[in-house]
Order: sequence, then C-alpha cells, then structure tokens
Amino acid sequence: MSYALPGRSQASLISGGHPGDRFVLALLRAVADAVIVGAGTLRSEPGVIWSSESVFPEAGDAFAQVRARMGLPARALTVLVTRSGKIDLRAPALREGVPVLILTTAAGATALGGVPGHVRVRTMTQGTGAEMIRVAAEESGGRLLLTEGGPTLFGQLVRERVVDELFLTVAPLLTGRAKDAPRLSLVAEMAFTPEDAPKGRLVSAKTADDYLFLRYAMAAP
Ligand SMILES: NC(=O)c1ccc[n+]([C@@H]2O[C@H](COP(=O)([O-])OP(=O)(O)OC[C@H]3O[C@@H](n4cnc5c(N)ncnc54)[C@H](OP(=O)(O)O)[C@@H]3O)[C@@H](O)[C@H]2O)c1
Repeated sequence: MSYALPGRSQASLISGGHPGDRFVLALLRAVADAVIVGAGTLRSEPGVIWSSESVFPEAGDAFAQVRARMGLPARALTVLVTRSGKIDLRAPALREGVPVLILTTAAGATALGGVPGHVRVRTMTQGTGAEMIRVAAEESGGRLLLTEGGPTLFGQLVRERVVDELFLTVAPLLTGRAKDAPRLSLVAEMAFTPEDAPKGRLVSAKTADDYLFLRYAMAAP
C-alpha cells in the first residue's frame, strides 16, 4: 500500500514504523538470495536500501550473523525491474557497491547507458514474472526470492501465479482514497474476477500491539 503523496509514499508510513513490521521485513531480507523490486518503488522512495540493517538497525549485526551462518553473501542481490530503464543510478541502493541486477528490455538497456561495475544488466526476452524469477535465481545463485512489489509488479506476479507465499501486515490505519487522492493497494494495474482471484491459505497469524502479521501460502493455479 502507499499514501502515494509526493515525498510521503514510503511503506513505513503505512506500517507506522512498528518494530514488529520492520522485524518481519528485516528477517525476510536476511534469508533471501535476492530482493526483486519494481522501478516505480525506487522512483517513489529514492533513498531506500533493501537490507535488513536499513529497516531494523537495532539488530543489524544479528541479521548479518544469520546470513553468515546460512552461508549467504553479506547482502541479497537487489533486482530492479524496469521496462523504460528510467533508474537513477545515483540512488543509494545503487551507490553502495553491493551487487545489483537491473532486469530490463532492449530499449531500457539503451536508456540506462553505462552502469557502475557492481551493477549487472540483463535484458528480458518476454518480461514475464517467470522470466524475472529464473534470471534472479541464476544471477543470485539461490532459490529464495523475496519481492517487495510495489503493487504493479506484485499484480503481475500474482496474475502469473508465481508467488508462493504472501507476508501481509495489517496495520490499524485507515488511509482512505478519493478521486483527487488515489491510493495504491496491495495489487495495482490488475483486476481479478471472483473466478480467478488468487486465493491464500493462512499459514500463521501473529499479533504485536494492534498489528496483525499474516503469512499465506498462495494456491497453485
Ligand atoms: N507498503 C508496502 O509494503 C510497499 C512496498 C513496496 C512499494 N510500495 C509503494 O508502492 C509504490 C510504487 O508502486 P508502483 O506499483 O507504482 O510501482 P512498482 O510496482 O514498484 O514498479 C512498477 C514498474 O516496474 C517495472 N515493471 C513492472 N513490470 C515489468 C515487466 N514485466 N518488465 C519490466 N519492467 C516491469 C516498470 O518500470 P518502468 O516504469 O521503469 O518501465 C513499472 O512501471 C510506492 O509508493 C512505494 O512506496 C509499498
């Protein structure tokens, strides 16, 4: 979700920065081989860095140890998905020197131009979610892939039924929406019918304060 307000569209404004929500996100990042994100999210949140430490700095060392004990590299591969190639290469997520993969089209690769040495660029032939997952697995050398959306990318992935699990935080905030104040929900640019709406099976439900942390297994087609 997002308030979609200029400069105030961060996911943390939806969760209210609750430590439980930050912890779940940090843990998911800590065990992931790659984190796949749409370019829209980077454009809305240009300062974002997809690490455990950035979202839960109070236990940054502990999350680093988790990765080390699992035999994982210090950071998951950041995978940015873009058709247009409109990626600000000066964004902190690309400036850190940690591995980044940009998945794009032929036109997008041309628009990107030269990239720093730690940034790899792969051109997709079909641009499907399945292709994103295959290439992200190849490039990260792993199988545990986390996507943080945003809603447009997530909509495509659930439409293709390539999402195995959904971690959903229910925050006690009502954002509302209006014609002149559109709000992004979990899924954007994708509308399902009652017959084909993706369905989850609740695997676990936990609470902290007024927050609900839900984990769903998403049904195969
Ligand atoms: N609450 C949360 O947990 C949370 C999490 C993440 C994001 N957000 C919020 O969501 C908002 C951004 O979401 P969004 O839906 O606008 O954008 P998005 O899903 O992050 O990114 C959409 C972009 O991804 C690229 N893309 C999507 N499918 C593609 C494909 N098949 N091939 C190549 N590129 C593809 C395109 O980039 P190009 O336009 O460059 O071609 C597209 O415009 C932000 O406000 C962010 O803060 C919230």
